[in-house]
Amino acid sequence: MKSHLLAAAFAALTTVVSGSTFSPARPPAIPLAVKSPYMSTWLEVGSDGGSGGNLAGYWPRFWAGPQPGPVAGPNGAVTGWAGLVKVDGTSYTWMGAPVVNGVAPTLVSQDSFEYTSQRSTFIMNVAGKVTMNVTFISPLTPTDLKRQSVIGTYLSVSVVSRDGATHSVQLYADTSAEWVNPTHNGDVVQWSYTVENGVASHKSFQQTQSEFNADFPDDAAHWGNWYWSTAASSSMTYQNGADVTVRQNFLSNGVLPNTQDTNYRAISNSWPVFAFANALGNVGTTPVKTLYTIVHAQTNAIYFDGANGLTAVPSLWTSYWTTDLAMVEFFYGDFVNKVGAIDHTFAVDSLAAGGQDYLTITSLSARQAFGAVQLCGTTAKPYLFLKEISSDGNIQTVDVLFPAMPIFLYSNPILVKYLLDPLFENQEAGNFPQTYSMHDLGPNYPRAIGHPTGDGEYMPLEECGNMLITTLAYAQRTGDTAYLTQHYKILKQWTGYLVQEALIPANQLSTDDFQGQLANQTNLALKGIIGIQAMSVIAQKTGNTADATNFSSIAHSYINQWQQMAVVTTASPPHTNLDYQDSSSHGLLYNLYGDKLLGLNLVPQSIYDMQSTFYPTIAQTYGVPLDTRNVFTKSDWEMWVAAISSASTKTMFISKLANWINTTPTNRAFTDLYNTQTGDFADGPFIARPVAGGHFALLALNGAPTAASEKREAKEFRA
Ligand SMILES: *[C@@H]1O[C@H](CO)[C@@H](O)[C@H](O)[C@H]1NC(C)=O
Ligand SMILES: *[C@@H]1O[C@H](CO)[C@@H](O)[C@H](O)[C@H]1NC(C)=O
Ligand SMILES: *[C@@H]1O[C@H](CO)[C@@H](O)[C@H](O)[C@H]1NC(C)=O
Repeated sequence: MKSHLLAAAFAALTTVVSGSTFSPARPPAIPLAVKSPYMSTWLEVGSDGGSGGNLAGYWPRFWAGPQPGPVAGPNGAVTGWAGLVKVDGTSYTWMGAPVVNGVAPTLVSQDSFEYTSQRSTFIMNVAGKVTMNVTFISPLTPTDLKRQSVIGTYLSVSVVSRDGATHSVQLYADTSAEWVNPTHNGDVVQWSYTVENGVASHKSFQQTQSEFNADFPDDAAHWGNWYWSTAASSSMTYQNGADVTVRQNFLSNGVLPNTQDTNYRAISNSWPVFAFANALGNVGTTPVKTLYTIVHAQTNAIYFDGANGLTAVPSLWTSYWTTDLAMVEFFYGDFVNKVGAIDHTFAVDSLAAGGQDYLTITSLSARQAFGAVQLCGTTAKPYLFLKEISSDGNIQTVDVLFPAMPIFLYSNPILVKYLLDPLFENQEAGNFPQTYSMHDLGPNYPRAIGHPTGDGEYMPLEECGNMLITTLAYAQRTGDTAYLTQHYKILKQWTGYLVQEALIPANQLSTDDFQGQLANQTNLALKGIIGIQAMSVIAQKTGNTADATNFSSIAHSYINQWQQMAVVTTASPPHTNLDYQDSSSHGLLYNLYGDKLLGLNLVPQSIYDMQSTFYPTIAQTYGVPLDTRNVFTKSDWEMWVAAISSASTKTMFISKLANWINTTPTNRAFTDLYNTQTGDFADGPFIARPVAGGHFALLALNGAPTAASEKREAKEFRA
């Protein structure tokens, strides 16, 4: 802990006056390298133990780990990442909080911070002499599976004269062995240095590989290799070894001795770091750029009980490259190609759908959502595995995949199939002996071993509805009717469960399980009824006309009865209740979104209008409470509701959430559960979760079936 304790003391003693501007907002935590359940490094910002948004002076943290607790401490565990620079012989820190033999180099001052969907950019002022552009890019290429399969992040550093004069500059950056194992549990880390095809890489890995082990308490991957790379050149020097030794070499000499420390050891034993130094020469008004990459490479990624029994599923990148280094070199050289395209698309679409406040939300959410998934399998049979993150380590949680679905549906709907496939495969192989859908594919990512005894968290109504709605949404966006035929039997089985259970829901959990069990949940019933109507459309598309008529008839009968029990007509203004028996209750009716997403036209417009009128009357400073049980809300469900609300109510939801991002005191990576009155996080594990993909709810409605086709379907299949 030594250097981190010193760093903490240093941070406490030094008043860092932040003159930095933040654009489009000052988020609770800034994504630095957020690309998979194992590459999830953030800069905490919020005032309850954060950096204030300054990259210099604070260690980056791993936030896909457990909730704050005994292992990680009050914050996420440190993933050491340090940046130093010498300008005209004077040393400065531009990243992290290194303390070297009692000396902490002066922090550079930060002019500004800006984020886009895949980029975090810090502009820094080094003593008025040079300006640094420090940019982290975790690329998003949802329609390019080859590139998306690489678990890698770019760090681009550009230095230019600020005062017009030339300055002698040496640049330094290192990563620590904490990336291999962010909690200090004594496992020995090994490392090596190689140069191949012009790319210099420090490789580090756990000496005793423990495949498919990424369990609580640390949630780190205890197998696979990490690569920290830059361009090999005559002006670059390197070293691996104890943090103090390596950093002191740079501070004293501006170069590194090109030596290796082969005393492999636990990460907290003289903290091993992996460093590069670049002599940039005399830097004038032409920017000098240095590019680093960090890549995580696992050959096997997932242990899966699928159609062929228990098998090891490879990472998808192994279909494109035969070695780790070949992938690393491709990624390094690819910087110029891909960066920027998605930023533009997401920005144009977000602005059109909800204005700048909406873009503030979506652009902070994109990396977080994609950072919870991994492309696996082969090009012939890809899978997208998802980790619930923070609330627990479940794999392929159906009621997490469901709220996250909008970003995948919007950015490339085939990804929704790759998310659903493992769930279908496991259950269709007969590995889940219940008539309802399973909750998840296993308690511990990456072991997708299912629940062969039929256990798992009990949310039967929730998950049946989720599977039906998600499957139809995918098929509608892609025209993949064969997929519906392929899974017809089990979809119909789950619909049978809904027919029995949806109208009068038993005392049970919904996805919002932190609120506890409740009977007759209005919103849960609505999901089930929409699920039944979704099955009617599935039956119609697959030529099962009798089923189509039957399920449509049931869904329409149910929705009429539901309205009788759900609407509090005596309230002013009227609204739906949280549960049928409590006329003083209310909640966000977010499952109504499914009706619009699928173009079902099942629920009368009057219900949409009524809720739109109601929500502003109960809005708090930072949003609308999830329900009457407390003042918390869920950001994902707020955006689901916004997507189907009137223009003014939509704007209200969006502006309150954007304001929350900018002002919340929490330092937790986009916590989806928060207090609508104080803006603080709700005391629970809701950090860096994939449900941020639900913030794309407005965009996922693009491509929904049109009003005309809705009407036709509704008419044809109403009994
Ligand atoms: C900083 O660098 C990134 C990556 O090259 C670039 O996209 C961004 O526009 C730069 N920002 C500024 C303000 O120069
Ligand atoms: C309609 O579906 C329900 C639930 O699956 C089933 O019990 C019933 O027999 C079906 N009716 C017809 C006419 O197919
Ligand atoms: C649930 O609603 C039904 C229909 O209104 C009612 O008969 C039943 O008593 C309710 N259950 C509870 C626990 O209130």
